[in-house]
Amino acid sequence: MKRDFINFDELTKEEVLQVIDYAIKLKKKPFSDKSLKNKSIGLIFMKPSTRTRISFEVGVYQMGGQPLYITGSSTQISRGEDIKDTGRVMARYLDGIVIRTYSHREVEELAKYFDKPVINALTDYLHPCQILADLQTIKERLGTVENIKVAFVGDGNNVANTWLIAGGLVGFEVAVATPVGYEPSGKAVYRALQLAKKSKGKITITNDPVEAVKGADVVYTDVWISMGQEGEKEKKEAFKGFTVDKNLLKHASKKALVMHCLPAHKGEEITEEVFEKYADVIFDQAENRLHAQKSLLSLLYK
Ligand code: CP
Ligand code: NVA
Repeated sequence: MKRDFINFDELTKEEVLQVIDYAIKLKKKPFSDKSLKNKSIGLIFMKPSTRTRISFEVGVYQMGGQPLYITGSSTQISRGEDIKDTGRVMARYLDGIVIRTYSHREVEELAKYFDKPVINALTDYLHPCQILADLQTIKERLGTVENIKVAFVGDGNNVANTWLIAGGLVGFEVAVATPVGYEPSGKAVYRALQLAKKSKGKITITNDPVEAVKGADVVYTDVWISMGQEGEKEKKEAFKGFTVDKNLLKHASKKALVMHCLPAHKGEEITEEVFEKYADVIFDQAENRLHAQKSLLSLLYK
């Protein structure tokens, strides 16, 4: 049976740990896994991307496959061809699809009509590949992804939603602090709480950044205005007090990592000073997109 990676929790906890460990191995031997030999993988991007697009293109190449970069505007999707037909057509040519778009439901719909793996490269709701790479980075730096506390400070967006589901699945603590009205999706919180019942996960949603950051091993942030929200500039007003700065970090664990999925808007969700202090971690996260996604592909094409 084909396997997708759209909601993060298609993987079991054990598989997530396995993907992280194998990613760390692949990092040392980038050309050692040829699971994609003779396979063509379509990379459909309806939104801009630097890291995700390049890391998938390079990763598929390193694994012996052919990556095809497909923009929305260059296909009939832009002229209204529906997802159902797009999926059925692409299934006749491609061995897999990596897709970045707006609607999460559309990606789930595509997966119904495309009979090979579909990987979510970011929707308005989730960004699962990012969190796999982040967990790899945490494992490399802290030695474990269990018994940790991750504090997410900022907008309750796709990255925050994915952290919640990952925490519930793997069984670590996730505290998300957002301004009132910008909390994470109720669907993600519900799913995370459901998953956390079976793991040692703990989920906290608050409007107080200090409460979230208290004792955290990881302090994570992301832009206040996500792709597709460019018209909502007034939103920034609500985020005063939610900048990750050195005062906020005083409440975290002494050895806490500061992480950011990038791109960053320095001076908004994070100060330039804090960003530069933790730049090594942040750019490791970006690099690990390559290794973690290759490891995921290897699992999905087993
Ligand atoms: N973090 C991330 O997904 O970056 P891109 O938008 O550049 O792909
Ligand atoms: N939340 C951001 C993540 C970018 C990688 C966005 O959706 O634009």
